[in-house]
Amino acid sequence: MRHILLAGLGGMGRVHLANYAYLSQKAVVVAVVGKTEADRDFALDKGLDFYTDMADAIASHEEIDTIDITTPSWLHYDNVMQALALGRDVICEKPLALSSAQADAMYKEARGRGLRLIPALVCRYTKEFALLKKTVQKGEYGRLIEIRFTRLSEKPAWSEGSWLLDKSKSGLVPFDLMIHDIDMMVSLLGTSVRLEKVLKGGQNHYHAAYRDEEGCLALIESGWLDAAIPFEAVWKAVFEHAVMVNDGNRVVIYPEGREPVQLPVVYPVVVSTGINVPPTGWYYEELNNIIDELDGRKEAASSSQEVVHALRLAEDTAG
Ligand SMILES: NC(=O)c1ccc[n+]([C@@H]2O[C@H](COP(=O)([O-])OP(=O)(O)OC[C@H]3O[C@@H](n4cnc5c(N)ncnc54)[C@H](O)[C@@H]3O)[C@@H](O)[C@H]2O)c1
Repeated sequence: MRHILLAGLGGMGRVHLANYAYLSQKAVVVAVVGKTEADRDFALDKGLDFYTDMADAIASHEEIDTIDITTPSWLHYDNVMQALALGRDVICEKPLALSSAQADAMYKEARGRGLRLIPALVCRYTKEFALLKKTVQKGEYGRLIEIRFTRLSEKPAWSEGSWLLDKSKSGLVPFDLMIHDIDMMVSLLGTSVRLEKVLKGGQNHYHAAYRDEEGCLALIESGWLDAAIPFEAVWKAVFEHAVMVNDGNRVVIYPEGREPVQLPVVYPVVVSTGINVPPTGWYYEELNNIIDELDGRKEAASSSQEVVHALRLAEDTAG
């Protein structure tokens, strides 16, 4: 059983808390750390022990073995380093850090202390992405030669103090939104991927092209738009002998010369998010797998080299 200290009780902290409730066989949130009155009120309402500092929480709850960081992105480096210094394994929301150098230092610190550091890169754990990765690995439709990701959202003016719109605090679109697709791209193509070109349509709208050493082209469109559009996260993968499409509702494979096949995407547990993402099984899958990774029941979904490389590509894309 993992004993979790949850740090951060905003949009994402509450998503993690709601999903841990479905994982009571293997994880329990023992206490929470927050900063504001709203954090305190929320915690007390849920009957959770509330602290404003991780060290105080650990002092009162020696049984805590894992700290889950869901604080705003610019705090991840300091919060993760503190959590590791407290001798606990760490789960940290994306982006792991706002620079590749920081992420590298965080992994070195974890390794040096014999602790685990697992970034909560939710897309890696989705059933849709698992189907894509399996299809690439099996090679039954030939090589992946092109992939296009699109991720668009209304400009997020809702974060506390609008920290998401401050480059020094969130890294803006490349580190906050696009990182999901950059990460999936690196997971599929490896660390030979390089940035080829970036076009910026508007201040927060990026179109970027990347290529790996085999010549596979990856295109990512990602933006925060000044319009109340619904959240969209889709991809299209072109293989030598098929095209595979995730339109946000269904995953369909269109083989050369054969009828299309809709692939089953079944989430056993679907949980409301309270953020600009509809009810989903993504975060349950993510935390369920991460707990299994921490306990050695599953292999790590991401390597430190991949995560650091993805952040390097986010740096290159941000320019
Ligand atoms: N994976 C996803 O789909 C996804 C979606 C949204 C956000 N995120 C990530 O989650 C993180 C948090 O984003 P959010 O939208 O929940 O932010 P938020 O502003 O809604 O919440 C941040 C929380 O952290 C608290 N906090 C601030 N400083 C703290 C400190 N020093 N110690 C403890 N708590 C502190 C705040 O009071 C608040 O409760 C970000 O890194 C963001 O990129 C991921």
